[in-house]
Amino acid sequence: MGVETTLVLLKPDAVQRRLTGTIIQRLEQKGLKLVGLKLMQITEDLAKQHYAEHVEKPFFPELRDFITSSPVVAMAWEGEEAVTAVRTMMGATNPLKADPGTIRGDLGLNFTMNLVHGSDSPESAERELSLFFSEGVISYDLCDKSWL
Ligand code: RTP
Ligand code: MG
Repeated sequence: MGVETTLVLLKPDAVQRRLTGTIIQRLEQKGLKLVGLKLMQITEDLAKQHYAEHVEKPFFPELRDFITSSPVVAMAWEGEEAVTAVRTMMGATNPLKADPGTIRGDLGLNFTMNLVHGSDSPESAERELSLFFSEGVISYDLCDKSWL
């Protein structure tokens, strides 16, 4: 329990299919708070660091080629149990198996081009956020105006 910050990537397919707004809207409507956002190209080196647990797996070349193929939107989202909240909203890794109502279940069909990444634990979130956002860049207080 407690407030967490998690890394979300809108993968190249989400950007190419003009689904960034749709996915961001879902996360905002859930009540999560956007505290960091940038459009960026993932390099091969960053792909290896981000997906370190998968580098030796047979599917890694396909995953690496896809994630480096065109820009992604990298975001930091904050909220109560944000890691679990985002993972639940993403749905199963394979969009064909993902429940309706989830991002992957509603918007995708392809195992590799599965639209979103979300950190899978608070420890992963801390590691991944530091790969994508420099120290001090995430703006935790941005939306905490008393008049909202
Ligand atoms: P992600 O890290 O991208 O958020 O996805 P995930 O946690 O749901 O799944 P993970 O097991 O971490 O796998 C990372 C990405 O690798 C691709 N994958 N392909 N062909 C396969 O067996 C296979 N397994 C995983 C998927 O694109 C997955 O998102
Ligand atoms: Mg994963």
